[in-house]
Amino acid sequence: MSKYIKKAKRVLLGNRRDGYTLPTNNKLYPAQWNWDSAFIALGYSYFNLNFALEEINTLLKGQWKDGMVPHILFHDKNTNYYPNYSVWNCGNRISSSGITQPPIMTSILKKIIDKNKLNKKQKLKVIKIIKDLKKYHEWFIKFRDPNKSGLVSILHPWESGYDNSPLWDIPMNKVKLEKNLKYKRGDIKVVNPKYRPLDIDYDRYVTIKNFLKKNKYNTKKIYKLSLFNVVDIGFNSIFLKANKDLLILLKQFKLNFSNIKKYIGLTEHKIIKLYNHKNNTFICNDIKNRKKIRIPSITNYFLLYADLNNELINKKIIKSLKNYNKNEKYIFSSIRPNHQSFEEKRYWRGPVWINCNWIIYQGLKNKDKLFSEFVKQRTIKMIEKKGFHEYYSCKTGRSMGAKNFSWSAALYLDLVLNKI
Ligand code: DGY
Repeated sequence: MSKYIKKAKRVLLGNRRDGYTLPTNNKLYPAQWNWDSAFIALGYSYFNLNFALEEINTLLKGQWKDGMVPHILFHDKNTNYYPNYSVWNCGNRISSSGITQPPIMTSILKKIIDKNKLNKKQKLKVIKIIKDLKKYHEWFIKFRDPNKSGLVSILHPWESGYDNSPLWDIPMNKVKLEKNLKYKRGDIKVVNPKYRPLDIDYDRYVTIKNFLKKNKYNTKKIYKLSLFNVVDIGFNSIFLKANKDLLILLKQFKLNFSNIKKYIGLTEHKIIKLYNHKNNTFICNDIKNRKKIRIPSITNYFLLYADLNNELINKKIIKSLKNYNKNEKYIFSSIRPNHQSFEEKRYWRGPVWINCNWIIYQGLKNKDKLFSEFVKQRTIKMIEKKGFHEYYSCKTGRSMGAKNFSWSAALYLDLVLNKI
């Protein structure tokens, strides 16, 4: 095992740039990504606490004035990535994208604080980070849930992090493409196009992005008018857990917490309605088209990670999770393999992702010890056998996408070294 620990650290350090870390060094993602940075910070916290805090700090340097933390920060402008900084044409202090990503950073920060003793300088840094993260959470509540429903919307599939998931097929099929779209993808020059989203997906991503840009990323306007507006279970589960963790941190550091506490109550009540326990299905809401989305995605099971105060429902969800991949050698496929939309090799339409396994494992830990250990050990073994890749086939374990993938290395470190 120590051989792999060394390798994992090497991956992170090899991808590290000036205060931030690339998701991989193979030119596929030549920038800083929001939720990647969170997982990466957790990895660093096992051998360099200052690198961990710096990773988070650098991301927050790109926070917008209204509180939004972008999904990408373009520290290096000279890259072949599409869409690059000039195409987004926005940012505060650092050029960025104009959308966000799953706000898992607060929960990661709490984990880092829980297992490390901070010196005075680090403590001051952490207080500043908590205040910035609170602003980020308040931005979500204010602008992504303007009707105070308890659930926040995403306005672009890229905001979910699971870009081409079949979850978005219904709303994406409704997006009317912009005429005369002109752009050049960089991703398929680096990775086999069979593993990446289709051109039609990109046409829609770019159409939505252009629409947001045309509206100058005006938060109120784009919530109402966006070509894509979905309430997703996975995303809201991450946000609920993050709000719960934020509340603990705010209390711990004696900061004001009343608005966050109120919102947690509201979300807890509403999110449960996205699970139909009679027929054991999960529902995401396509707000834009007033449609229900029912896709067996592993991200639905992030509901376990939200730590709902409902033992009966948690038990039912775990039972269903145990059947999710019961015929596969490698767990968990991003989409249940017997579903018509499943594709073994295409990005978020089937492959196994380490961050999903990690989130599910966190959700299981305090609910089903035995099963959580099973998930953890299977994930560790797969990484040790197949390497620190971006994603893997659930059928053969074959590694795909980018190699030297930072979050696979970082989360491996947490899986093998975390003793709490
Ligand atoms: C990509 O470029 O594939 C990213 O996932 C977008 O965030």
